[in-house]
Amino acid sequence: MCGIIGIASNKSVTPNIIQSLKKLEYRGYDSAGIATIVNGNIDEKKCTGRVDNLEKMLFKNPSNGSLGIGHVRWATHGTPNQINAHPHSSEEVSVVHNGIIENSSELKENLEKKGYKFKSQTDTEVITFLLTDFLKNFDLINAINKTLEKLNGSFALGIIIKKYNNIVVGARRGSPLAVGYGPEENYLGSDSYALKSMTNKITYLDDGDVCVLTSGKIEFYNSKNIKVNKEVLTLSNDKYTAEKGDYKDFMSKEISEQNITAKTCIKEYVDQLRQDINLYNFPIKPEEIKKIVLIGCGTAYHSCVTAKYWFEEFTNIPIEIDIASEFRYRKIKFDNKNLYIFVSQSGETADTLAALDLCKKNKAKTCSIINVVESSIARSSDFVLPIHAGPEIGVASTKAFTGQMLVLYILAIKISDVRKETNKSDYINKINELKRLPGLIKETLKCQDEIQVIAKDFLHARGAMFLGRGLSFPIALEGALKLKELSYLHAEGYPAGEMKHGPLALIEEGLPVVILAPKDRYFEKTISNMQEVIARGGKVILISNEHNKIVSENVRFTLEIPKTDDYLTPFLMTIPLQLLAYHVASLKNCDIDKPRNLAKSVTVE
Ligand code: AGP
Repeated sequence: MCGIIGIASNKSVTPNIIQSLKKLEYRGYDSAGIATIVNGNIDEKKCTGRVDNLEKMLFKNPSNGSLGIGHVRWATHGTPNQINAHPHSSEEVSVVHNGIIENSSELKENLEKKGYKFKSQTDTEVITFLLTDFLKNFDLINAINKTLEKLNGSFALGIIIKKYNNIVVGARRGSPLAVGYGPEENYLGSDSYALKSMTNKITYLDDGDVCVLTSGKIEFYNSKNIKVNKEVLTLSNDKYTAEKGDYKDFMSKEISEQNITAKTCIKEYVDQLRQDINLYNFPIKPEEIKKIVLIGCGTAYHSCVTAKYWFEEFTNIPIEIDIASEFRYRKIKFDNKNLYIFVSQSGETADTLAALDLCKKNKAKTCSIINVVESSIARSSDFVLPIHAGPEIGVASTKAFTGQMLVLYILAIKISDVRKETNKSDYINKINELKRLPGLIKETLKCQDEIQVIAKDFLHARGAMFLGRGLSFPIALEGALKLKELSYLHAEGYPAGEMKHGPLALIEEGLPVVILAPKDRYFEKTISNMQEVIARGGKVILISNEHNKIVSENVRFTLEIPKTDDYLTPFLMTIPLQLLAYHVASLKNCDIDKPRNLAKSVTVE
């Protein structure tokens, strides 16, 4: 993953590099570093841990160059120590890298034969020495191109060179790279978010592009080494600032604002006057869709699993769901009457982007459901449906999940209406019930105090299980993912009916088991499964919208959520599970916004 930044200016770039690196920490936070040119020499400073550590280091020992590059790392090759932190510099060249160089061992061997001495275990250092070597015999652009030609894999690069002490070079293949235009300086960054506080004039590099920045100008070269012009985009202002405000962390803010983000999203799609959903210029006529394939990773995948139930209920379209990292390598039989829907908060997830590229190569119709509308996935798909959730900073996805489900739900009911697979009054009822959803989310959020008590039960548990049927099954998967991601507690989500086929063996005295049992057509069956768990010593936390004393007997905790249309229950079920993961992690003093080993945007395979 990793985040990179580069600035060419006439004044010290360190403060802006640090500020941008803090924004990029969502991409990785196991080490950080900066390189500038000071008194004609490359000055590299790096450390393990957060950007705060780097800032302290620079406070004691400043680095005041007027151009520079910075990096936050999520380790792929080599442990997260200071030596492996980026930048990687020779006397002549300093490089920051996001991505993976697949042939680094082979390149390293050749460079070592030439006498280059490697300090790190990273794949990136080969780029430093390759460029250093080519610069001996070639001019800048040719040396860069010769270096890039040698690399297999994916990368976004930021480079500074001692000999060319007024430029920053950027290059992209596979990993995203944005360029920003400032009044007296220019920028390079892994995404527009990192550059937003400095400029709202942005352009994006395409695969194979190289850019050369000075403080006053930016030049672009395409993969054929031809100078090209790029369209400059003006970024929109965010309605929700990426600041914590009075909240302790971003996650608690993002959980709490879900009623507002849901309301915004509904307003964007629902035409209140006509009682209809606005959806124009769809890449394929809904009546002609033969099959829908929903693709995503992690939480985004769970929103796809939920949507499968909705699409199957409301339409006659066959639905498939796929994890992007699997989809991208399978022998898929494409059909241009199928619709491939990609779900991603960041819009930069490497596996999802690769799956989308595969569809595009096969001329399939694509649509993306995205939070970051300037992202690579949004820019590559035929049609974009934004979730309008505002910046999500906490690594654990919360408001984006409800936003993704919301757009998928809206899409499912709209497609069923266009295809005349639902009657008009049902369609209008669904829209009206949807308008009540933000209020119901707000009400559900009030369970915070109860959840705090329930969370204590998980403190010394060896693990936990989450069970549900129908639409509650994907929410069980999501509840388990949130708990393991935030509190490092082993957790599994299962369809409740699957327990007797193996997982029931895991139930032992005192194991916390969260049962999701709304009063839907599965209710009685789920309650029977719950009894099987209780009989084996499981400590049950029942979440339901049915208050039933008999059912609650022998249940350790019962949590009641508001009643709504069965199809909308997943939105409300999700809230207590997010809060549960949050409070268990808080009790265990885990880093809520930046759980260990993870990153917000997974831009490597
Ligand atoms: C969720 O809490 C995760 N951090 C993770 O599973 C995430 O949803 C996944 O990496 C996909 O990210 P995306 O939505 O940005 O594509």
